[in-house]
Amino acid sequence: MALKNINPTTTTAWTALSNHFNDIKNINIKNLDKEVNRKQDFSLKLNDLSVDFSKNRITKETINLLVKLAEEVDLKDAIEKQFSGEIINATEGRSVLHTALRSSSEEPILVNGKNIKPQIQAALRKIKSFSNKVISGKWKGYTGKSITDIVNIGIGGSDLGPDMVVESLKYYKNQLTTHFVSNIDGDHVSEIIKELNPETTLFVIVSKTFTTQETITNAETLKNWFLKSATIFDIPKHFVAVSTNLEAVVNFGIDKSNVFTMWNWVGGRFSLWSAVGLSISLSVGYDNYKELLEGAEEMDLHYKNTDFDQNIPVILALLSVWYNNFYGAETEAVLPYSQYLKKLPDYLQQAIMESNGKGVDRNGDTIDYQTGTIVWGSTGTNMQHAFMQLVHQGTKLIPADFIGYKESLYGLTDHHKKLMANYYGQMEALAFGKTKEEVHLELKTSGNEAKIETLLPFKVFEGNRPSNAILFDKLTPKSLGKLIALYEHKIYTQGIVWNIYSYDQFGVELGKELANKLLNKQ
Ligand code: F6P
Repeated sequence: MALKNINPTTTTAWTALSNHFNDIKNINIKNLDKEVNRKQDFSLKLNDLSVDFSKNRITKETINLLVKLAEEVDLKDAIEKQFSGEIINATEGRSVLHTALRSSSEEPILVNGKNIKPQIQAALRKIKSFSNKVISGKWKGYTGKSITDIVNIGIGGSDLGPDMVVESLKYYKNQLTTHFVSNIDGDHVSEIIKELNPETTLFVIVSKTFTTQETITNAETLKNWFLKSATIFDIPKHFVAVSTNLEAVVNFGIDKSNVFTMWNWVGGRFSLWSAVGLSISLSVGYDNYKELLEGAEEMDLHYKNTDFDQNIPVILALLSVWYNNFYGAETEAVLPYSQYLKKLPDYLQQAIMESNGKGVDRNGDTIDYQTGTIVWGSTGTNMQHAFMQLVHQGTKLIPADFIGYKESLYGLTDHHKKLMANYYGQMEALAFGKTKEEVHLELKTSGNEAKIETLLPFKVFEGNRPSNAILFDKLTPKSLGKLIALYEHKIYTQGIVWNIYSYDQFGVELGKELANKLLNKQ
């Protein structure tokens, strides 16, 4: 059964939210913060994860109404439909089952009447045994040497997810060096070639369709480079593929036994949990890869089974709707306080903006309210010395997610204390700002009384800028899996509220078509 089709702006909750917004739009987080128990009332926990959303322009009534909105658009029904494999990606006629890839339950999930769980288990077994062979050195290249370098060739979801996870889990990495080639820009692949030895390199071509211009062009270039030193009979030892398109893979020259299947019910930007994550398993080992999946499953179960007012992805999604649709905020920042997560904002840009950047609703009608937010960000503390000026004192309202870890991986507690002091300091500065009176006193006591008149307005921080503190105990494969799944479910929740299809991406097609036309004219 298809997803329901409810225009959110016609719901009772939306009208109530509009009225409520008019009543409270000028509230100040600073005053709200004085409420007893505010922190407890606006915090959620899931084992090693806690989310403090008290620094938002919300009251309990705001959350009540937002939750009512989720109920009125029947989010519950939508979640059940997604998890059970209904064809919720109606425009492409597909189920959306990245959650099945990390499900450890025996309960069957049917696609076209067939239980997909056994295929998933078989694919995981293949990933495990292949990863073990390569990592242990048993898998040999054409001159009998073990593999030292992995090259992941893919783009979009076939690149960003594995690349982000491999970078984020660098601490857990083994001896293999992993490279990612994505851009059609030949200089990208050329720079990578400089670092490779054909005798010890394994190429992993990742393309759901195996027709993507960038990936096929890069793969051909790398194959030709490889064949300058080796022969076509050596290809099976050095090229494997992840795809749904077996025929195209075999035509490319890859051995059938070197194909890792994926399925149409896994969307590109949600595919790192499938064999698209092969480079992850090769880089950090299968056990860590499995832990990543387990973390994601923990978040899946939380999302599926928890009441909306206690449900972390749902609450974060609704807060984002609140700012996007009522306060008119256009962007959201994702700010991880961990250098390991430097690629997370890029990854989330595809996940969020390719999913929810839609202007037509599930009826096919043009939408007259705001949908997908613009997402951007970078790591703390670097970004404090870059764009945070605008977030603190600029004219735009930019809600921000601050992602942090209680513990660092290498120790160096002095660094970590300073890092986390900045993490909390930034959120406080954004929420509470600095008043005229405070600046006045500060200038006076620092012996700058003469400058008060000229400097005062520039040193005032109006504050009242919202943030969420997303805090884990430690960066582990499991906690990373949880974090990624959190954002995946936030995306779907918002898509349901906005009455759009989050799982298609027709908007990327026209540019591709025109590029091909221009290419054919040359
Ligand atoms: O550019 C859009 C897109 O279809 C993405 O959604 C996808 O992740 C990427 O291209 C790569 O596609 P493929 O895995 O088929 O090469």
